[in-house]
Amino acid sequence: MNLEELAALHAKSLAEIEQAETPAALEQIRIRYLGRNGLLPAVMKQLKDVPADERPAFGRQANAWRQALDAALSTRGEALADSPAGTAPAFDSSLPGRWFATGAQHPVSRVIDEVTRIFGRLGFTVADGPDIETRFNNFTALNTAAHHPSMDAADTFWFDDDLLLRTQTSPVQIRVMLNHQPPVRIITPGRCYRRDTTDATHSANIHQIEGLYVDTRPVSLADLKATLATFAREMMGPGVGVRFRPHFFPFTEPSVEVDFSCHLCDGKGCRVCKQSGWIEIAGAGMVDPRVYRHVGYDPEKVYGFAFGMGVERIAMIRYGIADIRHLYENDLRFLTQFA
Ligand code: PHE
Repeated sequence: MNLEELAALHAKSLAEIEQAETPAALEQIRIRYLGRNGLLPAVMKQLKDVPADERPAFGRQANAWRQALDAALSTRGEALADSPAGTAPAFDSSLPGRWFATGAQHPVSRVIDEVTRIFGRLGFTVADGPDIETRFNNFTALNTAAHHPSMDAADTFWFDDDLLLRTQTSPVQIRVMLNHQPPVRIITPGRCYRRDTTDATHSANIHQIEGLYVDTRPVSLADLKATLATFAREMMGPGVGVRFRPHFFPFTEPSVEVDFSCHLCDGKGCRVCKQSGWIEIAGAGMVDPRVYRHVGYDPEKVYGFAFGMGVERIAMIRYGIADIRHLYENDLRFLTQFA
């Protein structure tokens, strides 16, 4: 090695120190130059091979290099320790941008909001009730006979003889009628609980939306049908039809099951409507006089209808969700589809 090469190495080492981005990188440089097997000790070892006339100059320059290395290392070391940015890796413009997860409304909340908005335009306001109910509100006042199978411990979560997790949103009807005189026009979204074993279409915890309209002027089954037909068109699209099939509920008489014509195949028959052209959406009927008596209304003076529908069911039909469990697993790959 000659003086020129030594000068070049000196300059190169100082430049590397200046460019070190992290304390760890700086330490690597220190080891490379000053470590036991480093370049500076190697240069010192070569001193004896340098021609005698050049040796003093070479020795001086090597010493100057050592001092410069020490000084540069400590200066750079302090700079890196002082600045937090110095510890961060250099900005890599080739890295892909960060993905920001945007929030999305849960399909169940979406359906509740939409149904609430539609009925809001028809004059229905939202009423609320607790998940823990009394036997009276959930069953007795709703004219459900004491021996009715839905009251069985195999179907209902009971806390004791009186308290239970409500099996339907219908008890909110009772609460509202006990506290308000007609006209009453409410919609009540909420959670319900049943001892169902979970599978693709069942869950022990579902949401229902109840509707109740009671007035002192005549209200008929035709009003119920017109109300639900308006709702069907708003919810599923303009061409959707509504049909009633006779049914039984303890708290309505007559009672019907409500089908919407299938909005996917226009009623021609498809997988979603099981080739029938119709999709079952709600239970409904004219409020039974016995319910009015339980809440202190005069059955001779009031008229009204009620309906109830399952929110998860509507969400599944509306968004093509094949398995109800998707709605409860909180898998972001599923939920962010609704962003
Ligand atoms: N509560 C009924 C159910 O859970 C639905 C319903 C509500 C039927 C109101 C008629 C009137 O099946």
